[in-house]
Amino acid sequence: MADYDYDVLVIGAGPGGYVAAIRAAQLGLKTACAESRETLGGTCLNVGCIPSKALLHASELFEEAAHGHMAKWGITGQFNIDIPTMQKGRVEAVEGLTKGIEFLFKKNKVTWLKGLAKFTGADTVEVAGQTVRAKNIVIATGSSVTPLPGVTVDQERIVDSTGALELPEVPSHLVVIGGGVIGLELGSVWRRLGAQVTVVEYLDQILPGMDEEIRKESNKIFKKQGFTYKLGTKVTGVQRNGDAVTVTVEPAKGGAAETIEASHVLVSIGRRPNTDGLNLEAAGLQLNAKGQVETDHSFRTAVPGVWAIGDVIPGPMLAHKAEDEGIAVAENIAGLTGIVNHNIIPSVVYTTPEIAGVGLTEEQARAGGEVKVGKFPMMANSRAKTNGEPDGLVKVIADAKTDRVLGVWMINNLAGTMIAQAAQAMEFGATSEDIAYTCHAHPTHAEAFKEAAMAVQGKPIHI
Ligand code: FAD
Ligand code: NAI
Repeated sequence: MADYDYDVLVIGAGPGGYVAAIRAAQLGLKTACAESRETLGGTCLNVGCIPSKALLHASELFEEAAHGHMAKWGITGQFNIDIPTMQKGRVEAVEGLTKGIEFLFKKNKVTWLKGLAKFTGADTVEVAGQTVRAKNIVIATGSSVTPLPGVTVDQERIVDSTGALELPEVPSHLVVIGGGVIGLELGSVWRRLGAQVTVVEYLDQILPGMDEEIRKESNKIFKKQGFTYKLGTKVTGVQRNGDAVTVTVEPAKGGAAETIEASHVLVSIGRRPNTDGLNLEAAGLQLNAKGQVETDHSFRTAVPGVWAIGDVIPGPMLAHKAEDEGIAVAENIAGLTGIVNHNIIPSVVYTTPEIAGVGLTEEQARAGGEVKVGKFPMMANSRAKTNGEPDGLVKVIADAKTDRVLGVWMINNLAGTMIAQAAQAMEFGATSEDIAYTCHAHPTHAEAFKEAAMAVQGKPIHI
């Protein structure tokens, strides 16, 4: 240790990095975390998961109240949305949580090195003019918005996800480029507050990577809510003229171009790993073809003592995946066994209803062998029906021979919370029968999961 300033230096204080730093310190390792932002928490807490969920929550409350959804229960009145107050709520939510991480760093004696870290050797990093040597260095630098060639984001009228979180007014017409998770979540926020929203998606369907049936069903639900789609369409130009923006599109397979007039454009076509400025060459590290840092299943890179986790390595770009990798990498550094089961990482779209899945899609499962599928519509779930939330379904995909659950997909108002049960069942190697014979409280949305599992056996009660 004498030669080293720290046992562990983590670069980046997002959900991967800050969790790795805290767990390393909990395990008795002298730990520092370099972060160049003014606040801790990375993309997730500052400009990602948390602020987007704050606005989703606020806009959902507004839509429920102002669009008469509560009238059925006798709740009526005049409801207005004050955007500056809503934005203040978002800022306060972010402030509270980022300060919370600062508190946790102090509590666990993690040193925050404020500044941009740059490798000067395999075990040496320069941060804010200071040279720091660490026995283990964890790269947790996350990701940032993928730019669309030829389109200049001005964060006023042509925005990325960060700009779309901070809009000071409701767009009259928001064109969303990319029908992925960000496009649908932030598109939902502004649609609920009154914007016309058009989603331009390159592929033939929204939400790539999810189960086909769930994608189609989601598409129908969003359309019913007022989204307009241009699927199989690519954007070839975005031109700002004062307060207006003209988006030029053409069929992805080629064909005649057309223009869409908008007040605002959101570019949300994916994210790419952050490695610029890290000077990885000095550490002897090379990137893969996608610009990611490759690791083995223990999160070791090709260079001894250098580890990597989170959005900067392959796999879904999700906060909970980064967090679990943060715990695992710290445990591996400490000589314990840290494992992440990358086959069981739930994903959730926090729209209303929520869309969630874990494990294989039906298409992937069928490609691997014979499967049995059980489905249950939310329309037949007593609680969802009572609450006036009939949209969606739960779908359980099981191996036809062993009955082991291979994947679970769902659309319903509580899907983001319900998917945890599916992930846990799958971690324990559950069969659909195990779930079908587990007692679920009544009346809950979760009963739809039990009934979908019963449907795999061909014996649901309520349909
Ligand atoms: P990041 O959170 O990106 O953190 C990396 C940190 O490293 C950053 O703070 C950066 O400043 C810092 N850094 C980079 N380079 C250096 C350097 N050289 N020196 C010092 N510091 C450096 N995921 C979910 O699971 N659920 C959601 O609901 C969700 N919502 C999202 C909504 C939006 C709008 C966006 C953009 C993303 C969302 N995500 C969500 C994705 C989630 O934010 C990321 O998967 C997660 O933050 C990745 O964590 P990370 O620790 O790998 O990296
Ligand atoms: P995404 O990968 O989810 O979706 C991007 C979409 O843009 C895809 O459907 C793609 O086909 C389309 N696209 C790409 N190029 C295009 C073009 N030129 N024209 C039209 N469409 C084009 O990426 P998104 O939505 O930007 O999100 C980035 C990441 O952030 C995701 O990987 C996601 O994991 C994470 N995230 C997670 C959330 C959650 O867990 N709830 C919420 C928000 C983001």
